Amino acid sequence: MKDALPQTIYLDDYKVSPFLIDTTDLVFDLGVEHTRVTTKLAVRRNPASEDKSGSLELNSKGAMQLQWIEVDGQRLGESAYSLTDNMLTLSNLPSSCVISSEVLIQPQANTSLMGLYRSRTMYCTQCEAEGFRRITYFPDRPDIMSVFTVKIVADKASYPVLLSNGNAIERADLDHGRHTVTWHDPFKKPSHLFALVAGTLGKVEDSFTTMSGREIPLQIFVEEKDLNKCAHAMLSLKNSMRWDEEVYGREYDLDIFMIVAVDDFNMGAMENKGLNIFNTSAVLANPKTTTDASFLRVEGVVAHEYFHNWSGNRVNVRDWFQLSLKEGFTVFRDSQFSSDMNSPTVKRIEDVSYLRTHQYAEDSGPMAHQVQPDSYMEINNFYTVTVYEKGSEIVRMYHTLLGPENFRKGSDLYFDRHDGEAVTIEEFVSAMEDASGRDLTQFRRWYKQSGTPVLKVRSVYDADAKTYTLDFEQSSPATSGRSENLPFVIPVKLGLVGADGSDIVLSSDGQTEIIFEMTEPHQQLVFENIDAEPVPSLLRGLSAPVKLDYPYSTEQLAHLMANDGDGFNRWDASQTLSLSVLNQLMHDSLHERPMTLDGQLVDAYKALLSDESLDPAMVALMLQLPAEALLHEEAKTIHVAAIHDARSFLRTALAGCLVDELEAIYQRHNIRQAYAPSVEQMGSRSLKNAALGYLMLVDSGVELAWDQFQNADNMTDQAAALSALVNCPTAIKYSTQALAMFLDEFKDEALVMNLWLQIQAANSQPNGLDRVKALLDHSAFSMTNPNKIRSLIGGFANANHVNFHATDGSGYEFLTQQILDLNTVNPQIAARLVTPLTRWKKYPEPNRQQMRDALQNIANEPNLVKDVYEIATKSL
Ligand code: BES
Ligand code: ZN
Repeated sequence: MKDALPQTIYLDDYKVSPFLIDTTDLVFDLGVEHTRVTTKLAVRRNPASEDKSGSLELNSKGAMQLQWIEVDGQRLGESAYSLTDNMLTLSNLPSSCVISSEVLIQPQANTSLMGLYRSRTMYCTQCEAEGFRRITYFPDRPDIMSVFTVKIVADKASYPVLLSNGNAIERADLDHGRHTVTWHDPFKKPSHLFALVAGTLGKVEDSFTTMSGREIPLQIFVEEKDLNKCAHAMLSLKNSMRWDEEVYGREYDLDIFMIVAVDDFNMGAMENKGLNIFNTSAVLANPKTTTDASFLRVEGVVAHEYFHNWSGNRVNVRDWFQLSLKEGFTVFRDSQFSSDMNSPTVKRIEDVSYLRTHQYAEDSGPMAHQVQPDSYMEINNFYTVTVYEKGSEIVRMYHTLLGPENFRKGSDLYFDRHDGEAVTIEEFVSAMEDASGRDLTQFRRWYKQSGTPVLKVRSVYDADAKTYTLDFEQSSPATSGRSENLPFVIPVKLGLVGADGSDIVLSSDGQTEIIFEMTEPHQQLVFENIDAEPVPSLLRGLSAPVKLDYPYSTEQLAHLMANDGDGFNRWDASQTLSLSVLNQLMHDSLHERPMTLDGQLVDAYKALLSDESLDPAMVALMLQLPAEALLHEEAKTIHVAAIHDARSFLRTALAGCLVDELEAIYQRHNIRQAYAPSVEQMGSRSLKNAALGYLMLVDSGVELAWDQFQNADNMTDQAAALSALVNCPTAIKYSTQALAMFLDEFKDEALVMNLWLQIQAANSQPNGLDRVKALLDHSAFSMTNPNKIRSLIGGFANANHVNFHATDGSGYEFLTQQILDLNTVNPQIAARLVTPLTRWKKYPEPNRQQMRDALQNIANEPNLVKDVYEIATKSL
C-alpha cells in the first residue's frame, strides 16, 4: 500500500450526514487536454443530524485538480479548507449556503473505468459505487440525494450526441464548432445514479404507452455499425415495462428512457436514472453473432436495470451495507420476469446451478460474508454472488412463505412508504411483516448469518401403521464469529412420489405438495394413510438456499428422474445420480483403479433419451453432467485431474452406450428454420448441441461438427461446433482451420472475438497456458478491455481447470503476473481475477502451497490497490 493500510468501514459506524444537498448543478466542458467540471451545490444542515456543527466532507479520488472553490460567491483561500488526497473538508459553514467549485479531470487517462472515462470514441460514466468522487468534490454517499441539472459542452462534429439523466431542457450551438445540451432530472437521486454520455452514436427508437396512458419514447444508442443488433434489447425493454406494471404495479416515471452501449465497461450494465449504460455484451444481439445464452442474458440484464428504476432508484439504499436491498430484490425480479418470458423450470435450473457452483463456494471459502455484511474495505469487492444470488433467494423465500398476494402487498407497501428515500434492509423486512401480519424476527437471520445450511432428512416407513415419517435436522457451519449459527426459517417444499410414479395426495383438499416451514434445529413430519413406501421429493425448486442430505438409493433417484411431479426435482435427481457415479469414478481414478460404467445410469439415460414426449430443453439439461466447477464445490478435496478424468471417462462411456439414441436426437433436432430466440428453438438447439458434445467422443461426431460449423446460420450452432472441434483431440485437422475461418469471418465483431478467445482459453487439452500466452499478443485481445480480460484470462483461470491447476504451478504464476499488471490499470478487474486463487485450502499439495504462494506474492506487492489487497490478505 502507498501509505497506511486500507481502512475498514463498519456498518455500526453509520451516521447521518450533517449536511444535505438539495440541488446539484454541473457543467462539463469536454476538451482534448482535460475536462472542466464546474459544480454548484445548494447545501443545508440536515435537521435529522445531531451534529449541528459538523464539517462538510467532500470526497475525491484520482487525479483531480481543484481550480477554485467558493462559498456563497466568496472565493476560499487555501487556509479556509482542508484538502487531502481523497477529501476536501469545509468547516464552520452557515446553516445553508451555495458551494461552487471547478476541477480539471482527465477522462482520457482514466483506465479504471470508474467516474468519467473514454470508451473508444465516446465519453461515458460509471458512478456506482464510488465513481462520482472521481468527477468532482461531492459527498459521495447514497443517502445524499439531490436534484441534478447537467450542462454538457463539447465539439459538435465529434460529439453530436450529448446525454445525461432526465429530460433535455436546452440545446444551443456555440462558437468554434462547439455545442451544448442541458439535462434536468426532476427526481432526487444519489450521486451513484448520475450518468453522462458524449459521442457519435446511432439511435434505435420506439415507444411504450404506460398504464396511465403516457407515451414514453425509448431510445437505444449504439455505434452506427451495431444498429442492426438492437431489436432484441428494445423488445426486452418493452416487455419489462409491461411486466413491471402487471406484476408489481410499477409505472415508469420520466418522459424518456435511454440505453447506451459501450465497449469498455467493468460490469454488465448500470441503472443510471433514465439513462442506463450497458456493456455492449449485455445489450447487442443478432442471430449471426449472438448465442442463445447471450440473447437470454440481454433480456435479463435489460429487465434488471429497468426494474431498478423502482427497486434501487425511487427507493434507494441508505449505505452500501444495504446493497442486497436493491440487488437481491432486483435479481429476484429479473428472474421472475425471465421465468415468465421463457421456461420457468429451465430458468430455475440455471439459477440454481449458478448458486450452487459459485455462491455455495463463496460461502464456504475465506471470502464468505453475510448478505448484509458488517464491514468492508473496498465496496466494489462486495458486489458478490452472496449479495446478489443469495440475496435473491431470500426474497424468493418471502414469496414462498407469504404467498404471491401477501408478497405483492408487502412490495407495494415498501415502495409506497419509502418512495424518494434511502433505506435499509430492515425497512424491507418491516414492510413484508406489516403487509402480511407475519412475524419475521427469526427469518431475519438469513441476512446476518453466513454459510450454507445443511438440511439433513431421514425417513421411516411403518407398513403396519401406514405412516411415513420425515425427520429433519438443520445445521450450519460456524460463521460470523459465532461458534454455531442459530436455526433458520427454512421453507421446505415437498411431495411424495408413489411407486406408480404419481405424486401422493397429502391433504384432504387433494394437494400433492406442501410447504413445511422448518424453524427448529430438529423437527418431524408424519404422513398418515400411506399405502406403500414413497420416494420423498424434497426442497422442490430448491425452496431454500441450503444443501440437502438424504440417503437416496440409485433406484430412488432413477424413479424421481423419470416421475417426479416437479420438473426441477427431476433434473436434480439426474444430477444427484450422476454425482454419486462421478464420486465413485473419481475415487477409482485417484487410486489408479480402472473406472467402469454404472449400468443403472445408462438405463436411466436411455429411458430419458428415448422418450420423445419430454421437453428437449429439459433433456439437454439432464444430459449434461455436473460441471467441473460444481464438482470442485462438492468435493472435500479438489483433485483437479481426477475430477476431470472421471467426468471425461463418464461422458465417453455414456456416448459409447448411447450413440444410436444421440444420433437420432441430433438428426431430429437438426432443423433448418429461420432463427428465433424462442423457447422451442432454444430447447431444440441446446439438445442438439448437447448430443453433438457426446458424439464428439465417438467416431461420428467430428464430421457432424465440421459440417455444422460450416453450415450454421446462427452463432449458437456455430460456436457450439467450434467449441466441440477445439476440445476434441482427434479433430485437429478441422479445429485449426475452423478457428482461422471464424477469425476471418468475425474479426470486426468484438463480441464474437470474445467468444473466440474464450473457447480457446477453456480448451482443456495439453499446453493450454502456451496457447493463452500467445493470444495475449493477438490483435483481438486488449488488456484495457474488461470483456477481453474476462474471456481470455478469466476463461483460462475459471474454465480451464486442468491447465490452470497444472502441478508445476505455471498457471498460478501466470495469473499472478496478470493481476499485478492490472493492479493499477483497473483495480476492480484485477481484484475479481484473484478469486480462483482464494480457495487454496481445498486443494491437495502441491497446488495448495503454490496457490498460497501466489496469493502471498500478490499481497507482498508494494503498490497494491485496496481492491486487490483486501481479497489477497483476507484469503491468506
Ligand atoms: N448496479 C449494478 C451495476 C454495478 C455493479 C455497478 C457493481 C457498480 C458496481 C447493476 O444493476 C447490476 O447489478 N448489473 C449486473 C447485471 C445484473 C443482471 C445482475 C452486472 O453488471 O453484472
Ligand atoms: Zn443491479
